[in-house]
Amino acid sequence: MLPSFLLALTWAVLVAAADYYKILDVHNSASDKDIRAAYKRLSKKWHPDKNKSAGAEDKFVEIARAYEVLSDSQKRQIYDRHGEEGLKAHEGGQQHQANPFDVFQSFFGGHHHQARKGPSSLTEFEVNLSDAYAGGSIDFMVNKKILCDHCRGSGAASDGDIHTCTSCNGQGVKLIKQQIFPGMFAQSQVTCNECGGRGKVIKRRCPHCQGNKVVDHTAHYSLEVDPGMPEGHEVVFEGEADESPDWESGDIILRVRTKKEKGGFRRKETSLYWKETIGVDEALLGFERNLTHLDGHIVPIVRKGVTQPGYVQTIKGQGMPVFNRPDQFGDLFVEYNVVLPIEVSPQMRRKLAEAFQSSSGHDEL
Ligand SMILES: *[C@@H]1O[C@H](CO)[C@@H](O)[C@H](O)[C@H]1NC(C)=O
Ligand SMILES: *[C@@H]1O[C@H](CO)[C@@H](O)[C@H](O)[C@H]1NC(C)=O
Ligand SMILES: *[C@@H]1O[C@H](CO)[C@@H](O)[C@H](O)[C@H]1NC(C)=O
Ligand SMILES: [Zn+2]
Ligand SMILES: [Zn+2]
Repeated sequence: MLPSFLLALTWAVLVAAADYYKILDVHNSASDKDIRAAYKRLSKKWHPDKNKSAGAEDKFVEIARAYEVLSDSQKRQIYDRHGEEGLKAHEGGQQHQANPFDVFQSFFGGHHHQARKGPSSLTEFEVNLSDAYAGGSIDFMVNKKILCDHCRGSGAASDGDIHTCTSCNGQGVKLIKQQIFPGMFAQSQVTCNECGGRGKVIKRRCPHCQGNKVVDHTAHYSLEVDPGMPEGHEVVFEGEADESPDWESGDIILRVRTKKEKGGFRRKETSLYWKETIGVDEALLGFERNLTHLDGHIVPIVRKGVTQPGYVQTIKGQGMPVFNRPDQFGDLFVEYNVVLPIEVSPQMRRKLAEAFQSSSGHDEL
């Protein structure tokens, strides 16, 4: 048996350990990205500028604190192992916790309350007709920039290498005096050239990204093609475009088109077109054939009697599936092309002549 005070302590730690995750509504194993996303969502919702309901501010403060801890890998580790108490000990009894409004400001990028959205990328993406017909999952890769995971997008070798710019005292701007007349000065504000207006300078660059803040990355995705997806349909992968500390990532947008293939089925919206070549005997006497559809199923095509060259037969329900309407299909149009033999043997010629003569004789009766 554990002494009761230890039990109480363990219990307290467990309760505390669950809390920050609960506040951000994320799992204990949530990635940095998930935590950022959760903070982004919740902090906007509960910001007292936006949410005038009672208690919104307290909630906002709680959310900022949870994010402050969970977004810092060292603090998070301590918190996971030793709970709130351990963290307080680590923070050295300093009462000062990060100002929740500063957390918010720095998250959403300095002076703006709203994060700027980065560029989205639009790509034409071709799928073959079989996939557009039956649906399917197509894997593809995208080369993009992601935040360097070593410096988490700061560009500095460590947090200690980020210094307040001494030239502008972190303001990003400087006041300069200009003499406009002898003895008369005007003050104007210019962007600090030491720090480029950022207010911070980096002493040692991150060795992983050479201070670029982002690195090249090949990301894998899979596109779910739904049966009958219309031409030009856009599929959005939200927030998956290039990452940067300066913006909220834009989207990857795929505009899906059906590949044009020679000789097979052709598609127009929910209709399918097929060309079938038959012999003169079949054109005259009728026939039965089997057509293999895009997913391999067999469609019997049957003609009784004469089929004229260029005749188009409509086969109901064998066209493309109707997008988002399970069990509905367009029609299939089969156009017949009749080929004549290159040569007719003397024997065949005699038989044909007889056949045509007798039929025409018959007609005269
Ligand atoms: C403001 O806070 C209330 C709870 O007090 C919450 O239910 C509501 O969703 C918040 N408002 C907005 C706009 O998010
Ligand atoms: C269509 O693409 C899929 C892969 O996405 C492939 O498995 C299939 O063989 C292709 N079909 C044709 C007719 O090219
Ligand atoms: C068409 O396919 C069916 C089986 O799906 C088969 O029984 C039939 O003989 C085939 N007909 C022709 C003309 O090939
Ligand atoms: Zn880096
Ligand atoms: Zn400066």
